Amino acid sequence: MENTYESFISSYIGDKVGITDDFLGLALSGSLKKNLLKLHSCNQLLEAGTGNQQVDHDKLFRSDVIHWLDPENEDEVEQYFFQVMDHFVEHLNRTCYTGINAYEFHYTLYPEGSFYKRHLDQFRSDDSRKYSMIMYLNEDWKKEDGGELCIYHSDGEQKISPDNGKTVFFKSSELEHEVLVTHKPRMSITGWLKTL
Ligand code: OGA
Ligand code: NI
Repeated sequence: MENTYESFISSYIGDKVGITDDFLGLALSGSLKKNLLKLHSCNQLLEAGTGNQQVDHDKLFRSDVIHWLDPENEDEVEQYFFQVMDHFVEHLNRTCYTGINAYEFHYTLYPEGSFYKRHLDQFRSDDSRKYSMIMYLNEDWKKEDGGELCIYHSDGEQKISPDNGKTVFFKSSELEHEVLVTHKPRMSITGWLKTL
């Protein structure tokens, strides 16, 4: 795992966006996806707000639906997910002095036709979100399915296809990004490593 972390972190340092295909492992991705589909079938995925404290359900800005993971939840899959994240945060703090002491993650579903317009992940009134992480849960994603994560760098755009098992990592205060319209349901775990 340390090798995966090292190449993940060095791609972040080199390109401002860390990408790895090897972070959660296929078994854990598959189980998280099953959980997500179950939550969806029980109507437990809800619209998210776009501003701090303010839930404005602005569907013109983002049209995904979410459900927060809760570390207190006894679900074995989520427990294992949090163990993986604890391990990664410990590695990051030890090797990069990042000072992460909190995190938050949600299941995310972008129904067909949905998107998230260009934004930054840090709120103006709260800078606790330090790093954004997205872990995709979509098997056999094709170019015509759309739904790329488009990251705006000073020298151009980077489009990332939301392929199963891929994890993306970038600084929340720095890179504006957007989720392009998806033509198929698009699933992920999305979260933030924080300093409180
Ligand atoms: C977000 C976000 C990107 C993605 O939830 O803030 O930008 O690829 N997600 O899902
Ligand atoms: Ni974002």
